[in-house]
Amino acid sequence: MIRKILHYPDPRLRQKAEPVLEMTPEMKKLVDDMAETMYAAPGVGLAATQIGEPHRIFLVDVAGEDEPSDLRVFINPEIVERRGECVGPEGCLSFPGVTEDIKRAAEVRVRAQDRDGKSFELEAEGLLAVAIQHELDHLDGVLMVDHMGMLKRRIVQRKLQKRAIEATR
Ligand code: NI
Repeated sequence: MIRKILHYPDPRLRQKAEPVLEMTPEMKKLVDDMAETMYAAPGVGLAATQIGEPHRIFLVDVAGEDEPSDLRVFINPEIVERRGECVGPEGCLSFPGVTEDIKRAAEVRVRAQDRDGKSFELEAEGLLAVAIQHELDHLDGVLMVDHMGMLKRRIVQRKLQKRAIEATR
């Protein structure tokens, strides 16, 4: 089922997500809904908090348009190592129309569980590393605007507040 993606400044985007204790059928259904929602958007990543579900789950698929899909599910993710630095443009399904250069670690090592609750570790770099850091931020209620300078933040806040008001009309 495709779920509604919350847009900034929805306060639910600031909620800190809770650890997933067990991959119950309900949690697996949530993962499947998230995948459907992410692909429909379309986006390269989606965190559970973006659809108002405060659980520590995010998905990433950074495969190019003509590549086979590469869906990765992260449950209770944790970055255990960060190396280097990179700056590149990021977008977010909760910030429609906004792109901003954000500084991130160039490489990360992540520990998480998959859809079946099985633990894994992953070394990531490039777009995948950036997407993982972006989505993990969501689970802690941290958003793109928090990485922006004061001026850019104001511009984005005004733009999306206006958009939210227009959407209710
Ligand atoms: Ni995002």
